[in-house]
Amino acid sequence: MSTEILSFPNGFLWGTATSAYQIEGAWNEDGKGPSIWDTFCRQPGKVERGENGDRAADHYHRWAEDLDLMVELGLKAYRFSISWPRVLPQGTGAVNSAGLDFYDRLVDGLLARGIEPFPTLFHWDLPQALQDRGGWPSRDTALAFADYARVVAERLSDRVTCWITHNEPWVAAFVGHFLGEHAPGLQDLVATFRATHHLLLSHGYAVEALRAAARRPLQVGITLNLTPGYPASDSEEDRLAVRRFDGVMNRLLLDPLFCGQYPEDVVAMAGSLLPVEPGDLERIAAPLDFLGVNYYSRAVIRHDPSMPMLEIAQVQPEGSEYSQMWEIYPPGMYELLRRVWNDYRPATIIITENGICVPDGVDLDGRVRDERRIRYLRDHIAQVHRAIQDGVPVRGYFVWSLLDNFEWAYGYRMRFGLVYVDFDTLKRTVKDSGRWYARVIQANGLPGDTV
Ligand code: FCB
Repeated sequence: MSTEILSFPNGFLWGTATSAYQIEGAWNEDGKGPSIWDTFCRQPGKVERGENGDRAADHYHRWAEDLDLMVELGLKAYRFSISWPRVLPQGTGAVNSAGLDFYDRLVDGLLARGIEPFPTLFHWDLPQALQDRGGWPSRDTALAFADYARVVAERLSDRVTCWITHNEPWVAAFVGHFLGEHAPGLQDLVATFRATHHLLLSHGYAVEALRAAARRPLQVGITLNLTPGYPASDSEEDRLAVRRFDGVMNRLLLDPLFCGQYPEDVVAMAGSLLPVEPGDLERIAAPLDFLGVNYYSRAVIRHDPSMPMLEIAQVQPEGSEYSQMWEIYPPGMYELLRRVWNDYRPATIIITENGICVPDGVDLDGRVRDERRIRYLRDHIAQVHRAIQDGVPVRGYFVWSLLDNFEWAYGYRMRFGLVYVDFDTLKRTVKDSGRWYARVIQANGLPGDTV
């Protein structure tokens, strides 16, 4: 057995990620206003078994215990999201200081333990009051977001250096407004492209607001879900289908953020749906300190003329390995990192999410033997290492997720945590993967006996 270590650069940020609605619970405590997810979960048929995040992992009350778990894992950084309706129950206007106090305590607790806080301002839980006034399809929501960013920065930027504006705006726009599988549950193409533009615009405004309100230089970025596309065959049709997929899935966001323009092929198709006003694209392309990349899987695409609009269909290639949700394809991590670096040259890249759901359970001796997660993480971390060897400036890697949590429309069925949560008793149990990850962090890389 080789004892060689795949070493990572000094100071590499090993972390885990979570989001407010998925773990906090306390959905109506201490002055919090309702979010669109509180509303969506109450609509019959939207979430499996009618589940919701009312209690979730009860992190709002168990945060101190969860900080101790982070210490046990040896985390260098922790990515969490701030609930907008906890801070501004009506979305704008009166600040709920009790809501901010929660994140204040969390940040202090992280810093006291030597863990770098990485807050995300928006991980999908829009205040319902703003949805009632038009939500992301309305330009006013972008302005409201800037104000929210300012309020949070005024409270936390004396201690928090690294900030993420949005998590996966593509998902918020397309899964929430086109597929209707996430809140607010619309199926409306016009609303989808309007939401996309306003999410990006709000990012630009928030970057300005954060930097203006901060008392010292900040590191600001945005997190995108990027899915590399691969053709199902060598045919010209399938290659063109992949190009169309890539336009709407990846370049629709990367191009405006890094090049200040929407991709021509997408504009040819849907340009009239993008409510661009003078100055918007410059604002969206404000220089960033890092790009957050969430990578889980790839998409194998074929041309399918029977499908509306893009005429594409996703296929699940035979012979591949699958989780409950996606194909497992570790080389996609490397290929995606190479491509993003090559085409866009972000200042630095952070893998802000990567992980796998496994139907874990606690064995008789109290252990959770999730070898499959260990293999997934090991294989993906090895691909990140490969990209760094090639010169791609990746400076952090966050496992999704610290805890098993509320996995959106799937409810509690999909378990992504390094820590098992019994959702009846809320007892936490560090899984084998959590112990394994602690060793990776300690070695600052993959020890030989794990590769
Ligand atoms: C990402 C989300 C995150 C979680 C993982 C599995 O798309 O950002 O909240 O649901 O997928």
